[in-house]
Amino acid sequence: MSKIIIKDAVKKYGNLTIIDKLSLDIPEGSLFTLLGPSGCGKTTLLRMIAGFNSIEGGDFYFDDVRINDLDPSKRDIGMVFQNYAIFPHLSVEENVKFGLRQRKVSEAEMQERTNRFLALMQIDQYRSRMPDKLSGGQQQRVALARALVIEPKVLLMDEPLSNLDAKLRVDMRSAIRDIQKNVGITTVYVTHDQEEAMAISDFIAVMKEGVIQHLGTPKEIYQRPANVFVATFIGRTNIIDAKVVDGNVQIGNYQFAINAVTDSQKVKLSIRPEEFLINDKTGIKAKVVDSVFLGLNTHYYLEIETGEKVEVIEESSITQLLENGKEVYLDIKKDKINVFDEAGLVNLVAQYEKKAS
Ligand SMILES: Nc1ncnc2c1ncn2[C@@H]1O[C@H](COP(=O)(O)OP(=O)(O)OP(=O)(O)O)[C@@H](O)[C@H]1O
Ligand SMILES: [Mg+2]
Repeated sequence: MSKIIIKDAVKKYGNLTIIDKLSLDIPEGSLFTLLGPSGCGKTTLLRMIAGFNSIEGGDFYFDDVRINDLDPSKRDIGMVFQNYAIFPHLSVEENVKFGLRQRKVSEAEMQERTNRFLALMQIDQYRSRMPDKLSGGQQQRVALARALVIEPKVLLMDEPLSNLDAKLRVDMRSAIRDIQKNVGITTVYVTHDQEEAMAISDFIAVMKEGVIQHLGTPKEIYQRPANVFVATFIGRTNIIDAKVVDGNVQIGNYQFAINAVTDSQKVKLSIRPEEFLINDKTGIKAKVVDSVFLGLNTHYYLEIETGEKVEVIEESSITQLLENGKEVYLDIKKDKINVFDEAGLVNLVAQYEKKAS
């Protein structure tokens, strides 16, 4: 276990700068996720930590050891790649033993540790099988066991669940979470699936074009996103342009006060689908355009009086769905919504709460 510190990392491919002065502290024993759209630089950064990419600037540390020039084999890392990369010519058991053999662990200890991780990953019954006789999920677990059995200081995982079906992804992500906690290993996890990131992470760094937009706990990032990009990337939300007049936010004919805004200014509101309350008296006037019943919840699509379209999610009731064309009002859970400056770059609510505390 060690903490990872990255200071002013720079990555260039040719004269294209992919990452420019990125800094990060990854606490010891935490599961830290790099999350962002395709091409934002997640794999690039992970490979720099692993030592598989050149580093064009900055410093990388495991605890107080600078690792920039340390050979990948000496960094004491376990890696799980998107495509598993388990050895096709070795049985499950031999795949798991591979790293231990390289490290010249005694035969007895090797067997004991291998058995432990085969059991932990629930693949002990396949120990003699060859990889091509395993399902994707089983291969995935072999890859995980092989990475964990060497008890590395740092575990690096790049979209390890991307080839699995939805049900197995959910099962495996809790398995990864449990093992990571049990073993207590500092883990950097890459995904572009925001739900997966929320489910397993202690901390998430949301990246865009090589720049960290927001670093925080899943709760912080969901509830007080740093900017409009983060608000829309994590979960679903409605972004609505609004004006502040005499300290009141105004949408159409509806006005309400929010502590965070006082000056007259243009703002962008982020109101998540569950932060609206459909009712017949208070709020923004709106008309139901469509609805989708999904069992537990119903998603409503409405046009508000300014002409903008919004999505609202409500717990399904046993009575009728609201029919299309019905006129309703949308009240707002004002303590939950977020207000950004007109450019969508500063969260005024987060700023206000920080000052107030
Ligand atoms: N070897 C390379 N040479 C040149 N450009 C590269 C190389 N590898 C990656 N890139 C570029 O660097 C940027 C970041 O790529 P990276 O693979 O880190 O993205 P990512 O966030 O992992 O995306 P994904 O979610 O699709 O895996 C992309 O624009 C990509 O085209
Ligand atoms: Mg990638």
